[in-house]
Amino acid sequence: MPKALVTGCSGFIGSHLTEKLLDLNYKVIGIDDFNDYYDPKIKERNIVGFKNNKNFSLNKFDIRDNDSVSDLFKRENPDVVVHLAARAGVRPSLLQPILYEEVNVIGTLNLLEAARNNNCQRFIFGSSSSVYGECKNIPFKETELDLKPISPYGVSKLTGENYCRTYNHLFKLPIICLRFFTVYGPRQRPDLAIHKFTKLIDEGKSIPVFGDGQYKRDFTYVTEIVDGIISSISYSKTSFEIFNLGESHTTSVTDLVKMLENTIGKKVLIDWQPAQAGDVPLTYADVSKAQELLKYSPKTAPEEGIKKFVDWYLKDKSSVLV
Ligand SMILES: NC(=O)c1ccc[n+]([C@@H]2O[C@H](COP(=O)([O-])OP(=O)(O)OC[C@H]3O[C@@H](n4cnc5c(N)ncnc54)[C@H](O)[C@@H]3O)[C@@H](O)[C@H]2O)c1
Repeated sequence: MPKALVTGCSGFIGSHLTEKLLDLNYKVIGIDDFNDYYDPKIKERNIVGFKNNKNFSLNKFDIRDNDSVSDLFKRENPDVVVHLAARAGVRPSLLQPILYEEVNVIGTLNLLEAARNNNCQRFIFGSSSSVYGECKNIPFKETELDLKPISPYGVSKLTGENYCRTYNHLFKLPIICLRFFTVYGPRQRPDLAIHKFTKLIDEGKSIPVFGDGQYKRDFTYVTEIVDGIISSISYSKTSFEIFNLGESHTTSVTDLVKMLENTIGKKVLIDWQPAQAGDVPLTYADVSKAQELLKYSPKTAPEEGIKKFVDWYLKDKSSVLV
């Protein structure tokens, strides 16, 4: 039975990935510190479906704790690492840049060190479209050299990628960095726009829209991301690769709001706010490399995915505690 170590196993993407790996008969060793970036009770709920699975074990500690990371690797000797634990919000990173650096960079280094010391066969790093910053070449391609992130979060992810590249070069650790583009779906983090807007619209409250509403995002349904991660685990040729995982369409905030209005069936009140520092105007993935090499094939159009998200939200409002 192959062994996968998943960091951030109780978060939004990590819990979906863990479920899928268990379905595929992996033994999953999870790490999560249940920090209060958002209500930890939501993270407890995320893992209800698998926490008692005999092939799953949960390790509650902070990836900044190098001794705990290294002891776990020695004990479990995982075949593959999928590293998703991070401080994940863009705007909060402007307020706590040092925390973002410590978790997203030092935490990543602790995992890379443990992976190379234990001869791990594959390391997958959950990176982000934020590394592209205000990139002018659209859609964004992995070959882009002019990467200038505009938030501490984006810098921390690019630094994580650079460490991954260096660890591959120096120690031949096989590594894939996956740049996720605005992920959504059931259990989406409550700080992200689709979740936040749905809650406010459902409660009849106004929603804050920053800038002129023309900011565009490449919204990607969570099962596409999970499929991309699974393909990366079994991708045979790699030494070091970077792949964009997006939907490869881009939707403006105004169009998103209309979609939510139609799906929820309530009129939206918009509270216009000034543009926020650190927010990029556009994200748009070229996914041709992932299509060709990982057989990545996003299938969920935003209208369909939004409906699935709203259905989940309305059915299980009690899961939304903030
Ligand atoms: N959701 C998105 O739209 C998106 C987009 C691009 C990249 N990403 C990346 O994907 C990954 C997962 O994102 P998510 O949306 O599921 O976020 P999430 O916050 O729901 O999940 C991250 C999990 O990691 C855990 N964690 C955080 N810091 C930790 C630490 N120091 N030690 C141990 N555990 C820790 C958290 O408790 C949480 O359960 C992150 O690396 C994020 O940067 C997400």
